[in-house]
Amino acid sequence: MAEKGSESEWVVMATGRSPTNIAVIKYWGKRDEDLILPINDSISLTLDPLHLSATTTAAVSPTFSRDRMWLNGKEIPLSGERYQKCLREIRKRANEVSDEKKRIKIKKEDWDRLHVHISSYNNFPTAAGLASSAAGFACLVFTLAKLMNVKEDLGQISSIARQGSGSACRSLFGGFVKWTMGNNADGSDSLAIQLADEEHWTDLVVIIAVVSSKQKETSSTSGMRETVQTSALIKHRAETVVPARVLKMEEAIANRDFASFAKLACADSNQFHAVCLDTSPPIFYMNDTSHRIINLVEKWNHSEGTPQVAYTFDAGPNAVLISPNRKTAALLMQRLLYQFPPNQESDLTSFVVGDKSILQDAG
Ligand code: DP6
Repeated sequence: MAEKGSESEWVVMATGRSPTNIAVIKYWGKRDEDLILPINDSISLTLDPLHLSATTTAAVSPTFSRDRMWLNGKEIPLSGERYQKCLREIRKRANEVSDEKKRIKIKKEDWDRLHVHISSYNNFPTAAGLASSAAGFACLVFTLAKLMNVKEDLGQISSIARQGSGSACRSLFGGFVKWTMGNNADGSDSLAIQLADEEHWTDLVVIIAVVSSKQKETSSTSGMRETVQTSALIKHRAETVVPARVLKMEEAIANRDFASFAKLACADSNQFHAVCLDTSPPIFYMNDTSHRIINLVEKWNHSEGTPQVAYTFDAGPNAVLISPNRKTAALLMQRLLYQFPPNQESDLTSFVVGDKSILQDAG
């Protein structure tokens, strides 16, 4: 235990920040619900932390009598299995921490009985209908690993974040990230790999058109469970379509080939929503406004003969729009504002514009 005069005097803290990520080849369906092992690889880009990120501080002190967590200032229970797994897995890998100046030394074995307090903030409204679990779990695991001096690399840490929420594993890296589904039954090789760093394709601009700020009716977790149980299309998607698409997407990213990137991203978003429709009962994540946005982009892309903008929708109606540069992003905003005028009964509530869309590793 800490070798400080009075044991109760010290607190050791660590802080981390993780942005959210947007999948351009979607993860939808698990082969193992407990370990959160997916049925296909997925690819995402990590967003600018300025707009959509979680910042977490974790503290340890001998005065803490139990693990506790606050989210946006409100205490939340840590009893859920996903939180418990993340805490357990990080504790298992904890190492000695010492601060000679403050005369604090936490031995490896001390971590089993010491408790942590965790405080996490999202820099966007949790109720805005924008995924927060990816950034949240990535940040939680990253910060705990920092606090407990875990030596594993980011890939291994991502495999722990995956057990909090599948898509969280991809938020451990900046730039373009692939979550490889892995083969091992214990999930040890189901982790995130950085395909290209944040400097690779800096021209891209991401705009999120907030269509609804309501909480989604069907969570991703239960939605994908129902799809795996009832959809005939999902098997074809996971076994045939996605493996080929992942290879093409990796190539498009490596070559900064926006036309291919956009075609693949739009097709994959549409297929993901198609398997949701193929679920029994069908799951509708997009609404009429989402469909109008798709039409707007499709017509524009078609009229130019080559993709100007890519769209992708997660488990909700909000549109994530990716343009190849600022000029096209400005044109896109013009078109969106024309179709959805702000001062009228607009269906679009707000926009989140990622200026520098791609960013750094968690840190
Ligand atoms: C549509 O990662 O939220 O955003 O693993 O059950 O926590 P759990 O699901 P989650 O699902 C994300 C689904 C998605 C697609 C994606 O991000 O790849």
